[in-house]
Amino acid sequence: MEKIRAAITGIDAFLPEYRLTNEELSRMVDTSDEWIMQRVGIKERRILKGEGLATSDMGAEAVKKLLEKTQVSADEIDLILVATVTPDMFFPSTACIIADKVGIKNAWGYDISAACSSFLFVLETANKFIQSGQYKKVIIVAADKMSAITDYSDRTTCPLFGDAAVAMLIEPSVEDVGVIDQILQIDGSGRHYLYLKAGGSLKPSSLETIELGEHYIHQEGQTVFKVAVSKMADVAVEMMERNNITPDDLSWLVPHQANLRIIEATARRMGLNKEKVMINIERYGNTTAATIPLCLWEWEKQLKKGDKIILAAFGGGFTWGSIYLKWAYNS
Ligand code: UT7
Repeated sequence: MEKIRAAITGIDAFLPEYRLTNEELSRMVDTSDEWIMQRVGIKERRILKGEGLATSDMGAEAVKKLLEKTQVSADEIDLILVATVTPDMFFPSTACIIADKVGIKNAWGYDISAACSSFLFVLETANKFIQSGQYKKVIIVAADKMSAITDYSDRTTCPLFGDAAVAMLIEPSVEDVGVIDQILQIDGSGRHYLYLKAGGSLKPSSLETIELGEHYIHQEGQTVFKVAVSKMADVAVEMMERNNITPDDLSWLVPHQANLRIIEATARRMGLNKEKVMINIERYGNTTAATIPLCLWEWEKQLKKGDKIILAAFGGGFTWGSIYLKWAYNS
């Protein structure tokens, strides 16, 4: 029997218009463009402004653009999976809300939460559904409104994050393209270093949790940095080795965009030149689930059918991993 692989056959994105620059941030907290550029590599990030706008609004816009671009109708979609740590609400899922907003009526779906590794986890989930043979058109949405959980009086976290949404169409292919290999990991002992303290069943929202600022991202940056550098590089190198990929063979590394120093360390360990690494952190910051697909969307026109691409991410949980895929189409 022919091997079925999940191939990305379309991609589109939604970016909020508002640009929060380092200059503006340095008027809000004790920071500077120099510090942020040297330590992280971000110049500006997009912020979703406007009353009543949520992750699903960005996701729905991305899906509408994707359906238009691929000329696929909402009725044809079998499954919609949404990767996010900033769902509109605990329930219903953001998948339900996006499906309603775009008119997807013949599908089922749900949300996947794996922080900055969410895109890898959702892509592999879609891959397995496609490989089952039962699903022909799957939409995955990677969307986060990080500004909803960022404390703009905390200089250690507020320069880092931005908002964005990307939607992808995933279809079966029997050609030698699509998802080839994956290494995905979790280690919950890392949960104390990057998390949201309150609002869940452990610590429901109260006046006290609000006063303590426990509905905002808490990160012990240095600890996360050290583990991120080693895990992301380890897993990307392992992916190259077990698929016999040399730095010359590889077309692109698409790393999660949390810190330019983590990206550069990963590329160095893989023996890659910077020209083969997709980097856009300077313009968008860390958009959590959306970073990797946002790169693929921006580079789409340069990608060619058969390009060998390694994705790698590390995030809260801890969660991390790598996916090796071959690009499925020429633009
Ligand atoms: O995406 C999910 C996974 N997350 C990550 O991968 C993020 C991993 N961590 C990081 O990227 C980095 O740890 C940060 C960017 C968060 C911080 O960079 P760092 O080089 O680890 O800085 P640090 O926390 O060690 O702080 C160094 C100094 C401190 O001052 P002192 O104690 O040396 O006087 C901080 O108070 O920099 C200070 N600092 C700042 N200064 C100006 C912290 N934030 C700022 C700021 N502006 N925004």
